Amino acid sequence: MALFESHIFCCTNRREPGHKRGCCAEKDADALREYMKKKIKELNLPKTRVNNAGCLDRCELGPCMVIYPAGVWYSCKTRDDVDEIISEHLQGGKIVERLKLPG
Ligand code: FES
Repeated sequence: MALFESHIFCCTNRREPGHKRGCCAEKDADALREYMKKKIKELNLPKTRVNNAGCLDRCELGPCMVIYPAGVWYSCKTRDDVDEIISEHLQGGKIVERLKLPG
């Protein structure tokens, strides 16, 4: 039996300003991750874990996250995006195609 039904890794990597690839931290990744953690706790979603991650190598598309075991990648830029991923993917079991990244 898996410890978590959904294990979410959110990139919050920060690079120096002006780096050619940019970084998720400069696009509000920390605040979005905190918002996601808070919402998941409020909703009391079972066996769901949100972890901080280093660079996931999709910097230009960030803030990025990947949800296992599904292995689905998302570009999540706003609180509305977070809400949609929670309601559709985590609660509804459906991939949010408009936010999904290839791979
Ligand atoms: S800095 Fe987030 S994917 Fe590279």
